Amino acid sequence: MRGQKPLFGDVCINGAKNAAVAIIPAAICASGFSRIENLPYIEDVRCLVDGMAHIGANIRFADKHTLELDTSSITDYRAMHESLRKIRASYYFVGALLGRFKKAEVHLPGGCNFGPRPIDQHIKGFEMLGAKVAIEHGAIKASADRLVGTKIYLDMASVGATINIMLAAVCAEGETTIENAAKEPHVVDTAGFLNAMGANIKGAGTDVIRIKGVAAMHGAEYTIIPDQIEAGTYMIAGAVTNGRVTVRNIIPKHMESLVAKLREMNCTVVEGDDFITVASGSITGANIKTTTYPGFPTDLQPQTTVLLSIASGDSIMTEDIWENRFQYIDEIRKFGADITVKGRVAVIRGKRELTGAQVAATDLRAGVALVIAGLAAKGQTVIDEIKYIDRGYECIEQKLTALGADIARVEG
Ligand code: EPU
Repeated sequence: MRGQKPLFGDVCINGAKNAAVAIIPAAICASGFSRIENLPYIEDVRCLVDGMAHIGANIRFADKHTLELDTSSITDYRAMHESLRKIRASYYFVGALLGRFKKAEVHLPGGCNFGPRPIDQHIKGFEMLGAKVAIEHGAIKASADRLVGTKIYLDMASVGATINIMLAAVCAEGETTIENAAKEPHVVDTAGFLNAMGANIKGAGTDVIRIKGVAAMHGAEYTIIPDQIEAGTYMIAGAVTNGRVTVRNIIPKHMESLVAKLREMNCTVVEGDDFITVASGSITGANIKTTTYPGFPTDLQPQTTVLLSIASGDSIMTEDIWENRFQYIDEIRKFGADITVKGRVAVIRGKRELTGAQVAATDLRAGVALVIAGLAAKGQTVIDEIKYIDRGYECIEQKLTALGADIARVEG
């Protein structure tokens, strides 16, 4: 790719990856036919589809963005397919299979490696519902005679634990309460799908979620929400190139923290019912701390850090969710960025003119941050290991090309 070309135009945002990767396994909770629309056509979704077929689901793409699946044919509580080792969201098979069959055996999750990613809160939740859980030979094994609702307090508002406990609890006896629940839009969306399948979940999107167990669930038709992180990535791409980009088919409410920070950085942001336009002038620095929703998302931290490195003035980025999510900074420095990291804090000295570099993606969001840096940089950038980017961004090079970027995928 060759940078410093201002991006102009509209880009249509796909369905949310982190909702899709929960909603597909959530279908296991019911026995029946479901149709899921607005799925992003990305590698993580394809891995989950293979995993679902492996346990016996009758599953097919009706089109690129629509899955039809019949889960009444699932017979196997063991989800040990190779594809599930590659992704993080395979842990949702544990909650869903445990909820439906009272037994689950699932590959330990893989996914982006940016430091420790514990799942103790998931396990605590399953155990409090009455399951025995063990980690043996690279698998999570869970089983229960009965699952009985209870009050579960999460030590931190974990997205994965909140969703996984919902999956295990929808058909448990009695009422389950999740306190200090995660409030992210994909948590709400997963609860929406479960309710469409006959579950009784109230309070998703607040700190306290109440789940009344139901005897059985049925299939449903459901449309996944737009991806707030994909939308944010293109908004930042517009800003970093001094262009004007409109992200369409989005829920502007989900973008509030990024919009506030972009305005603070001197960008002009116009919001409509289902679109946002970002135009940048002379970007100024800002201090940002990632946190849980509705705070600034960690999944936009690497992209925003690149934007801050071309801003005038110094900035501080504090990563409050993941203890080690600045590993990618070494790659960003190759573009000439001046960033110092100490623990969870990055100090970004602005007004750098970035120049093209030969770099390699190390995970999904770090990978797309390299693309953002390449868009801002003078001269040619070559990014290796783009498989990480394909895990979460559909047709990224086509979308950027349509906006005016000079970018191409080269077979390695
Ligand atoms: N945590 C624990 N114990 C647990 C669970 C989480 O200590 O049992 C800690 C984590 O170490 C982290 C914090 O709690 O410090 C938040 O973790 P969370 O469980 O919310 O993260 P996750 O569910 O594993 C999802 C997204 C991530 C996103 C985070 C935070 C999926 C598949 N992944 O991960 O997305 O960064 O929430 O919003 O939904 C990405 O899309 O690139 C990505 C990494």
